[in-house]
Amino acid sequence: MLRLIGRHGPLLVAAMLLPAAAASGKHSRAGRTDGLEATGHWSHRKVGSAETPPMGWNSWNAFGTAITEAKVIGSAEVIRASGLAEAGYRSINLDDGWWLKRRASDGRMQVRTNLFPSAAVGGREGTSLRPFTDRLHAMGLRAGIYTDIGRNACSQAWSSDNPNLPEGTVAEREVGLYGHAEPDLALYFRDWNFDYLKVDACGIAHYAATRPQVTQGRFRALAPLVVDADANRSDIPAVRALYAQVRDALRRLRPANDFVLSLCNWGSANVRAWGKDFGTIWRTSNDIDPTWGRMLHNFDSVATRELYAGPGHWNDPDMLEVGNGTFDAAHPVEAQAHMSLWAIAAAPLVIGTDLTRADPRTIATLGNREVIAVDQDSAGNQGVIAYTDDEREIVVKSLAGHGAKAVVLLNRTAEPTDIMLTAAHLKFAGDRPTVLRDLWAHADIGDLGGQRSFRLAPHQALMLLARGTPERGSGLYLSEMPGRINVAVDGITALEPDPLIHRMVDPYHPGTTWTGNRPAYAGWGGPRADATPYGQDLRVAGVAYRSGLGVLANSRLEARVERGFRRFSARVGLDDSTRGTRAAVRFELYGDGRRLALSPPMRFNQPAAELTAEIAGVRVLELVVRQLGPANGNVVASWAEARVD
Ligand code: GAL
Repeated sequence: MLRLIGRHGPLLVAAMLLPAAAASGKHSRAGRTDGLEATGHWSHRKVGSAETPPMGWNSWNAFGTAITEAKVIGSAEVIRASGLAEAGYRSINLDDGWWLKRRASDGRMQVRTNLFPSAAVGGREGTSLRPFTDRLHAMGLRAGIYTDIGRNACSQAWSSDNPNLPEGTVAEREVGLYGHAEPDLALYFRDWNFDYLKVDACGIAHYAATRPQVTQGRFRALAPLVVDADANRSDIPAVRALYAQVRDALRRLRPANDFVLSLCNWGSANVRAWGKDFGTIWRTSNDIDPTWGRMLHNFDSVATRELYAGPGHWNDPDMLEVGNGTFDAAHPVEAQAHMSLWAIAAAPLVIGTDLTRADPRTIATLGNREVIAVDQDSAGNQGVIAYTDDEREIVVKSLAGHGAKAVVLLNRTAEPTDIMLTAAHLKFAGDRPTVLRDLWAHADIGDLGGQRSFRLAPHQALMLLARGTPERGSGLYLSEMPGRINVAVDGITALEPDPLIHRMVDPYHPGTTWTGNRPAYAGWGGPRADATPYGQDLRVAGVAYRSGLGVLANSRLEARVERGFRRFSARVGLDDSTRGTRAAVRFELYGDGRRLALSPPMRFNQPAAELTAEIAGVRVLELVVRQLGPANGNVVASWAEARVD
């Protein structure tokens, strides 16, 4: 039986245990499938292996293209000697600048041996990075390499006088994967034995026929598939197809899936929605630099994407700048804030500083085991925003241990501020003890006492571990398990830039004489935990809900519940903030492909209905919202208080 409880009391409806396809309306629209049909399984397939966010070091933020073997090995040695390797930083990744040219006779990539002396192996191979990876592997580390999805790289697009740019003819300087994916990837992963690949995208973005480097005959034109600030004018299927080629080649080369594939197209072409199916990690924004504003920008680009990350797939706000600029040893507050935000966001932790010159305070910040443990928590939940305003933010990350949460209180401003943390932010019972620990002070700081106010210094992030009694007892709100939710269909019908994030100041065009850096990252309207897809509180017929999932109509979410829950319940309805007020929606719940519950048509301003189902033994729930009839705008629906007990 399915139970619907409206404001006027329980309403019992006979459960219709129809096969999923028949129940879904699949055949109702001229045989068209809309992806809303329950599939009965978890459709996300991991790319490579990263059960927890990847950790390591990369040359770019530290050295740019002025990269040498000695510098890389130098930082690798510090990683080992300082304990950072033991703390989890294991991948040592080359970025742009390692390549000399593509050999004319057979297309084999050649290494710049004046920078990488061990690569001068001679003979048929000419050069090889195998001695380099062997050395890293012998140190107990892993090895990462960098390439581009187009014909040419980012360094080539943006500078002409750099001594480390690829050399030779136009064809020899085509060092990217375009047209060479299979042999290049076999070289990097089979012959050279790399473990980690970062694939940039300048080659498909910055070589239009009109660009000076092309008109001057230095490079071949490639009609841009990525238009950086314009998802509509990007050729998204073509971009996905190119990255799929890389993903599939790596799966063939590494059948054990022991690789990491890092997509680097800077949040463009709507990658924030599809990156999870094509890479292990995917950049959600433009390049970080060592400034406070840029760091916040990059954090903001992941902060609302909590339902897109989980074990094996992670939003990537870019590499760390801890140790550099505003985050150097003279700025411990900012450095700790940066680390705290990356850890609470379950972001990859890739060090970007020259560790041979790093101050012990920088090593200590990077090596804080308690903070790293939050990032690497096995539940794989990204932190969810519990409170946000212009100046302050509270982000809560549910950890694997029941009743354990990490929380970051952030002061974004240059003035001191006060932040009140409440049990409700943590979804803990306010009348039971909540024990707090300060992860930067390494100190237990007593009980929350229901709520507690903290004074934060300018730019400070307080990072706490909180242990308490969940509001739900042994159950969980679905918004407390974002790592176990997969966005199968987001319901977005037109791409919109996320208005919460302005495009960052372009380091190449920092002036203000043009129209400005308008928001550019698509993905606005994607489902959210504890918020609507458009960033509002969840609210149905005037009743606000602190917990739940906010979605667009015509969406399907999958939730893994194999932990043995017995019951699903939610209050469902059209959200008050909907743009489309005229259409109705229907909420459908499936368990392992079988329909468990169905709401009546829910209209604007109609009180939420309670939807419950027995789910004992169910492994995968599917939450479908279907729009009934045309609307006057996008329809926002709320699975308020969606929970499993
Ligand atoms: C950028 C990328 C950076 C770095 C650089 C190298 O596109 O986002 O992380 O790899 O290229 O040129």
